[in-house]
Amino acid sequence: MKKQLIQLIQNIINQVLKNHGIENDSAIDVQTPPDRKNGDFSINAAMKFAKACKCPPQKLAAEIVALLEAETQWFSKVSIAGPGFINMYLSDEIIEKYFNELCNNKNILTAAVNEVVPTVVDYSSVNIAKQMHVGHLRSTIIGDVLSRVIEALGNPVIRQNHLGDWGLPMAMVIYKAEPIIRKAEKDGVSLEEVLPLAELEKLYKAATAECKEDPKVADTCHEYLVKLQQGDKELLDLWKKITRVSMAEVYRIYRLLNVKLTEADERGESFYRDMLADTVEEIKKSGLLKEDAGAQCVFLDEFKSKEGNPLPVIIQKSDGGYNYATFDLAAMRFRTHKLGAKRVIYVTDARQALHFKQVFATARATGILADPNVKLEHVPFGSILGEDNKPLKTRSGENVKLAELLKEAVDRAYNVVNEKNPKLSEEQKKDVARMVGIGAIKYADLSQNRNNDYVFSFDRMLALNGNTAPYLQYAHARICSIFRKANESIDTYSAKAKISAPEERELMLKIMDLEQAVVSVATDLRPHVLCNYLYELSVCFSSFYDKCSVMNCEDSSIKASRLEICNMTRKTLAYGLNLLGIEVPREM
Ligand code: ARG
Repeated sequence: MKKQLIQLIQNIINQVLKNHGIENDSAIDVQTPPDRKNGDFSINAAMKFAKACKCPPQKLAAEIVALLEAETQWFSKVSIAGPGFINMYLSDEIIEKYFNELCNNKNILTAAVNEVVPTVVDYSSVNIAKQMHVGHLRSTIIGDVLSRVIEALGNPVIRQNHLGDWGLPMAMVIYKAEPIIRKAEKDGVSLEEVLPLAELEKLYKAATAECKEDPKVADTCHEYLVKLQQGDKELLDLWKKITRVSMAEVYRIYRLLNVKLTEADERGESFYRDMLADTVEEIKKSGLLKEDAGAQCVFLDEFKSKEGNPLPVIIQKSDGGYNYATFDLAAMRFRTHKLGAKRVIYVTDARQALHFKQVFATARATGILADPNVKLEHVPFGSILGEDNKPLKTRSGENVKLAELLKEAVDRAYNVVNEKNPKLSEEQKKDVARMVGIGAIKYADLSQNRNNDYVFSFDRMLALNGNTAPYLQYAHARICSIFRKANESIDTYSAKAKISAPEERELMLKIMDLEQAVVSVATDLRPHVLCNYLYELSVCFSSFYDKCSVMNCEDSSIKASRLEICNMTRKTLAYGLNLLGIEVPREM
C-alpha cells in the first residue's frame, strides 16, 4: 500500500510543481507523524519547494491539498498544519482493501525488486585450526540474515565462506599434526576423535612457540609451506584432512545456529592459490604496481599513515609470498567475472575497515573488476562485551568458546520454558528451549545497531518482556493458542478483515509495513531495523489484544475479522523471524 500511496503523492506534487514551471525528479519524503492525531502520513514538500516555486508555502500546500482531497478513496481528511506541513488521514476503506489483498496474497512480500542484483555475501569466513570466536559469531549471524533478506527480495545470493585455509599457519599445523594423523590412521581411530578443533588449535599455538624458539623448526615449516604451495600430494592430503576435521566442528555450530552455510559455500583462500600470479599480472598492467623494499605494492593517494607517509597495499611480499589483500583481490576478480556478482558484501568486524577500504580502492584503481559499477560493501560490526564492559572473556581470561555459550543459552532457556509452561512434554520443552535459547543469542546481537559494541547478558536476552526474541516468539505462540482455543486452524484460516476499532486500524497498518523494513535491511544492511519493526508489531498486537476482545466478541463477522488480523500478525512475525534465522514455536 505504501508504495502506491507514495507514488500517488509523488505524482500530485510533481503535477503542482509543473504548474509552477518546475520539473521535479527527486523522490519526496513521506513521514509517519509520531502522533496519529496528526494523520497517518505527512509531507513537508510545500516548505521544501516554496522557494523554487516562488510561492508562499501555505499557498503551495493548499494547491497540493486540493488535489489530495480529490482522492476520496484514499483519504478521509487532508489538512495543513504549522508553516505548511500536510497531514493525511487514510480512509478505512483503503486500509481494508490493501490489507485484505495482502491476506489473500500467497507471498507476504509483494515487492518485486525493480532490478535483480546478483549478490555475493562473504560471511563467517572462519580460520582453519582455530576455534570460532565471538567475532565470527557476529559475522555468521549478521551475514546469514543479510543473505536471507536480499534473497527474499528476489536477488540471487551466492554465499561465500572465505576460509582462512592457506598459508604459513596451515603449514605449521600440518607439521605438528602429521604424526598424530599417521598414528590415528594406523590405529584406525577417527581423526575427529584425536584431533578435535580445540586440539588443532593447541597444535598451532605450540608450533608458533616452537618456530620462535627454534629456527630449525621455523625452516621446516617454511619448507612445508613451499611444498604445499607447489601442490605436494601428501601435504595436500594432510591439509585436506585437517580442514575437514576443523570444519566439522564449525558445521555443528552452524546447524545449531540455524545458519544456512554448507560445504558448497566454502571458497577459502586456498581456492584462489592458482589465481594469485594472474591477479598480480593484471594489477601490473594498470601501471600501479610499484616496488618498495623488495615488495610489490600499490600506493594510492587517499591512504596515508598517521605520520602522513604513503600507506601501501602489499600485493606480493619480497619472498614472493602473497598477502591477505592479494587473496581478496583475486576473489574480487573471480566473484565479478566468474560468479557474475554486481554487489559484493563483506561481513567482518570493524577492525578490518581499513583493509577493505584499501582493497576496494585498489580493485577500482587497477580496473580488475568485471564491471566498474559493481557495488563493494564492507559491513563492519563492533565487539561483544562482558558485563564488565570489556571484550567478552571467560572468568579465567580466555576467549569464550562459542559452543559453550550456545549450550548455556539453551540450558537457561529450558528453565524459562519450564517455568512458563510446565505442562509441555519433556521433548517439547527441549525443542522450545533450543529455539528460544539460540533465538535469544541471535536476536540480542541483531537488534543492536551493528556498529556498536554491546554487552552480552543472558538475563536480558532471555527476558520475556522487552525487545527480545522470547518476547516475539511468545507473541507468536500466544496467537497460535488463540486459534487452538477458537478451534480454528492457523494454516487455513481466512476471513475478511475490517476496521471496527482504532487498534485494529493501527495493527493493520503496522503489518503492512513489513516490506518497508525488509527493503531497508537489504539496502542499508542493518538487521536491527527489522528487529525494531517486529518489536513494534508485537507491541501493537498487545494493545490490540488488550482492547479488542477476540474470543468473546459477540459480532461474528468482527470476531472473524479479528482472527484474521491475529493470524496476519502471526504470519508477519514468523516471516520476519525466519528472515532473522530465528525459529518460532507454536507453543511455549
Ligand atoms: N578469515 C578472516 C578472519 O578471520 C576473515 C575473512 C573475511 N573475508 C574476506 N574476504 N577477507 O579475520
